[in-house]
Amino acid sequence: MRSIISIRTLALAATAVAIIWTNEARAEDELDAATKARIEKFEKGATTIDISKYPQGIKDNYEVFSQKCTQCHKLSRPINCDYVMPDEWSRYVKRMMRKPGSGISTSEAKSIYEFLVFDSSVRKKAQLDERLVAAKPEEKTAAEAKIKEVHDKYDGK
Ligand code: HEC
Repeated sequence: MRSIISIRTLALAATAVAIIWTNEARAEDELDAATKARIEKFEKGATTIDISKYPQGIKDNYEVFSQKCTQCHKLSRPINCDYVMPDEWSRYVKRMMRKPGSGISTSEAKSIYEFLVFDSSVRKKAQLDERLVAAKPEEKTAAEAKIKEVHDKYDGK
């Protein structure tokens, strides 16, 4: 009797997991029209980044980014999106990492985050500067410290 109950419990748990999984997979279909339109616009932009002048470590991180972030959508989506601030990138990389089947480890997420922060400070510098000017003083200081941390780790290496 006991084993039957536990099999039932297991079956229920498996069903619950399957439902959560399916709902998550459907998330993209359920995006509101404005978000969909915005994302589609990003995807029509450049599909690669010219990394020829980036430090070697950042070039290595670009490989991780271009492998891991193309499993569900085009790389042009993160390449052309509006995110530039370190906190936006850490939040977004974590959000993508948590999606079922992402297969992104903590260390890969860190490499991707560092790539995106570095890249935003070079390729999207104008956009980043605009955001820093508009940010609250303490947010600006915190963001600049995070950008500097990445540059200190990779510049000239
Ligand atoms: C497991 C599937 C999956 C993987 C892997 C994945 N994404 Fe996504 N991504 C999605 C889905 C689904 C959406 C749309 C809904 C959302 O934002 O959650 C999305 C949307 C986005 C957007 C658009 C956000 C917006 O609203 O402007 C960006 C940027 C993005 N992803 C970046 C990345 C980056 C960077 C990586 C690699 C770290 C990545 N994605 C990996 C599934 C994935």
